[in-house]
Amino acid sequence: MNTEQELKQFQERIDNGEKIEPKDAMPERYRKQLIRMMSQHAHSEIVGMLPEGNWITRAPSLKRKMVLLAKVQDEAGHGLYLYSATETLGARRQDLVEDYLYGSAKYSSIFNYPTLTYADICVIGWLVDGAAIVNQTMLAKSSYGPYARANLRICKEESFHKKQGYEMLAKMASGTPEQQKMAQDAVNRWWWPTLMMFGPHDSDSPNSAELIRWGVKTKTNDELRVHFVDRMVMEAEAIGITLPDPDLRYNEETGHWDFGLIPWDEFWSVVKGDGPMNRERIRARRHAYEEGAWVREAATEYARKQRLRAEKAS
Ligand SMILES: [Fe+2]
Ligand SMILES: [Fe+2]
Repeated sequence: MNTEQELKQFQERIDNGEKIEPKDAMPERYRKQLIRMMSQHAHSEIVGMLPEGNWITRAPSLKRKMVLLAKVQDEAGHGLYLYSATETLGARRQDLVEDYLYGSAKYSSIFNYPTLTYADICVIGWLVDGAAIVNQTMLAKSSYGPYARANLRICKEESFHKKQGYEMLAKMASGTPEQQKMAQDAVNRWWWPTLMMFGPHDSDSPNSAELIRWGVKTKTNDELRVHFVDRMVMEAEAIGITLPDPDLRYNEETGHWDFGLIPWDEFWSVVKGDGPMNRERIRARRHAYEEGAWVREAATEYARKQRLRAEKAS
C-alpha cells in the first residue's frame, strides 16, 4: 500500500472508526509501529512479574500470597496475549523476545526500580497498575483489532490488580505507626517513576502525532498523565496518603490538578539502561530464557508428533 489513493482510503477507514484486522491492507509503517509498540508492551508485562514475584515467598499471610500469585500469573497472561496479537502482524515471537533479551528492544522503565518492602507491592498495585489501566483503557479503543481486544481483556484483570493494591495500602496506611511510615515511604519512592510511565511530554514524543492520526492511540501522553493525577489525588486523600509533590494544586481554570516538574533526567538514564535494577532484570530474564530452552524444544517436538499422528489418522 503505497499510492496516495490507498493511503487515503486507509485513513478514511481509521477516521470512520473501523477496526483494521490482520489481513487488511495497511501501510508498512503502521505495521512496523504497531509491532514496536505491542512487543514493547508484551516485554513490559513479562518483566513486570519480577519486582512482585520477588515477594511471593514473603507475603504476610496466605490470603496475600494467593492474591499476589494470581496477579503475577495474570501479568504472564497479558504478555502472552500481546505476543500473540503481535504475531498477527507477521512478527515471529522468538525474534521479538530475542531482540529484547540480546538486542535493543525496550520495556517500561518502571520495572527497573527495586521493591524494598511489602508496601511496595501495595503501591505497585495502586499506582503502577492504576497507570497501566489509564493507558490500556485508551489502547482498548486502538484502531488495530487484535491489539484493542487484547487490551480490553487485560483491563478487566488490571482493575482487580489495582483494587487489591489500594485495599492493602489503605489497610497499611491506617495501621501501626511503622506500617503508616512504610506505606508513605513506598508512595514517595514510586510516585514520580509512575508519572514517567506515560512517556515524555507531547513536545518530546516524536511518534505521538502519527500514532494518534492512525488511531493506534487516542490520547496523548500528557492528557493521560493529567487524567491519572486527577484520580490519584482523590484516592490518596481518601486513605490519608500524601503525594510527594509540594506543587500539586487544583487549577480552577483547567479543572485539573497542576503538578511539579517530573525528573526527566532520571527517566532518560533509566531508559538508557542505568536505572537501579536494569542489569538485574535483564540478567534474570536471560537466565529464565536460556534455562527454559529445553521446555520450548520439548513442546515443539510434542506438537510435531501430535501433528504427525493427526495426519496419519486422517
Ligand atoms: Fe498487566
Ligand atoms: Fe497488572
